[in-house]
Order: sequence, then structure tokens, then C-alpha cells
Amino acid sequence: MIVSLIAALASDRVIGSASGKIPWDHPRDRVHFRTRTAGNWLLVGRRTYDEMEGWFGKRIPIVLTRDPDFRPFSPAHRVARDPAAALALARGNGAKELIVCGGAEIFASLLPFSDRLLLTRLDLVAQVPDPVRFPDFSKSGDWKLAYLEQWSGDAENIAARYEVHERV
Ligand SMILES: NC(=O)c1ccc[n+]([C@@H]2O[C@H](COP(=O)([O-])OP(=O)(O)OC[C@H]3O[C@@H](n4cnc5c(N)ncnc54)[C@H](OP(=O)(O)O)[C@@H]3O)[C@@H](O)[C@H]2O)c1
Repeated sequence: MIVSLIAALASDRVIGSASGKIPWDHPRDRVHFRTRTAGNWLLVGRRTYDEMEGWFGKRIPIVLTRDPDFRPFSPAHRVARDPAAALALARGNGAKELIVCGGAEIFASLLPFSDRLLLTRLDLVAQVPDPVRFPDFSKSGDWKLAYLEQWSGDAENIAARYEVHERV
């Protein structure tokens, strides 16, 4: 099973705020996220799961939480108490790819287990209170850029670079 992390990053690797919500709207990246996650098992942190209520449709998220009383919004959604249990659950259900959708804590916890990073790098300085960040993976030497696509800006979308990094 391949483990992929998918994220949209503003400059300085900012992905959101500790107080919640992604501080930009990027329709092209939303379409990319919807398309890339379709038909796959997803892993989300409990805070991101709360933000995404109603979004999942037929996708099956595994929610990572330490809360023994946590109940997901749908009985079809699954719960894991730690990253190893989440990986075992997806693998045990025959997942070919597990897509880790954040947020910051979950990206940091799953980076060591991951094979691929699917990153939308927005040409944006995000001014947010209590910023949370994607982990600084680039200095480790463990990753190589395998694919790069330039997304030019338009009336609705900030310019961005779509990067796929693979573990060396
Ligand atoms: N730009 C992007 O691509 C992107 C993607 C996703 C999210 N975001 C943003 O990221 C922010 C949320 O990130 P966040 O770091 O605050 O929260 P998060 O990673 O979504 O969720 C954190 C929660 O996950 C659970 N958790 C974390 N590590 C765990 C572990 N090792 N084992 C078991 N459970 C664990 C805990 O839940 P309990 O407290 O229930 O125990 C923890 O409170 C929001 O601003 C969101 O909009 C951005």
C-alpha cells in the first residue's frame, strides 16, 4: 500500500490555522483534491474531520483521534487511535493507496510512513493567527521531486505549482 500526503501550502509551508479553517479559496485545487481522493481510503485528523463534515460522500475516511468516546458523523467512517492502527486498517481492507489529508499534526505523524507527497504550492503569503505548517521535509534528503506542473493564476485562482515528491 502506498501512503500519500496531499496538501495545499502557502509560503513558509503554512496550511491553515490552529483556530481552524483553510484561509484561502482555490477552486482548481479543490477540484484536484476531489479528483485525486476519489475512490481511495483517506486518513484525517479529528480537527480536520470536524471541518470537513458533510464533504466525504462515498469516500471512506479513517479519523485519527485519541478520544475513546469519539463518534464519527457516519457509521461508514472509521476511527483509529494511532497511526499504526490506521495503516493496518486501510491495509487490512485492501487499500492500494491511503491518502493522508491533514491537518498539521497528522502530516507530521504520518510523514515517516509516507511514500509520496502531493503538494499544491500556492503563490501566497497567508496572514493567519496561530499558523500551522506542513512538516519541513525538504532538508532530510529523503525526497526527490518526481513531477512538477505550473498552474497559472486567473480571476479565481492564485498561481500555484503542483509538485509530486517521492521517497528516494
Ligand atoms: N492546506 C491543507 O492542505 C490542509 C489540509 C488539512 C487541514 N488543514 C488545516 O489544518 C488545520 C488543522 O490541523 P491541526 O494540526 O490543528 O489538526 P489535525 O491534524 O486535523 O487534527 C489533530 C487531532 O488529531 C488527533 N491526533 C493527532 N495525532 C494523533 C496521533 N498520533 N494518534 C491519535 N490521534 C491523533 C487528535 O485528536 P483528538 O483531539 O480528538 O484526540 C488531534 O487533536 C486547520 O486549519 C485545517 O484547515 C489544511
